[in-house]
Amino acid sequence: VKESPKLPNRELISQTVQFVKQTLQGAESGHDWWHIQRVWNNAILISNTEQADTFIIELAALLHDIADSKFHDGDEEIGPQKAGEFLKSIGIEDSIIIHIQRIIRNMSFKASLGQIDFHSKEMEVVQDADRLDAIGAIGIARAFTYGGFKNRELYNPEIPPALNMNKEEYKKSEAPTINHFYEKLLLLKDKMNTETGLRIAEERHQFMLTYLEQFYNEWNGEQ
Ligand code: ADP
Ligand code: NI
Repeated sequence: VKESPKLPNRELISQTVQFVKQTLQGAESGHDWWHIQRVWNNAILISNTEQADTFIIELAALLHDIADSKFHDGDEEIGPQKAGEFLKSIGIEDSIIIHIQRIIRNMSFKASLGQIDFHSKEMEVVQDADRLDAIGAIGIARAFTYGGFKNRELYNPEIPPALNMNKEEYKKSEAPTINHFYEKLLLLKDKMNTETGLRIAEERHQFMLTYLEQFYNEWNGEQ
């Protein structure tokens, strides 16, 4: 394959945007282009206050969900592989490609089970950016969208949240969507890597608590 000539970084980013938009056409709303755009924006915002390589952060944020293993028979390598092929095709150097692939792998299901242990400042920023999109108003919308897709109940006072479940068990559970707040969404704040990420997460966390309070009030016919 002929190597592309070296392009300025902004041009490489905009080619990546085009590639990701194309790849995600028709994706479900939890992981569509708009999720990527939000994570990309969050990542840029967080990177302003971190000593990290913004180019790597932007590319990794853009490419982190191009092949969700949930929709590819659990194959965790499709995402990093597709990202790697694309980055090679636009002439990105190997060391950067390898770093971005590690970031993508690290944000996956196996990583959440502690089977991958990779750390870099860039990874921390992108992971925070993705977590921010799982909490707050958007996080609530995504959770109920997912719950609706799985035909879950909104809430059931007879089914308490199961804490300390690993992601595999919890994917199988038919628990109501409100439980997901206690099993995952309200735990994310304490996992934030960066200071800016934590600051934003704290606000969004508070919003979720307010939301839940109102939810139970309405559920119980109060107010
Ligand atoms: P991500 O891609 O953000 O790391 P997932 O692919 O696990 O996370 O989930 C995508 C979205 O669906 C997230 O906003 C997440 O909170 C939501 N979600 C995942 N599992 C559940 C669940 N059991 N109930 C409700 N929402 C869920
Ligand atoms: Ni994501």
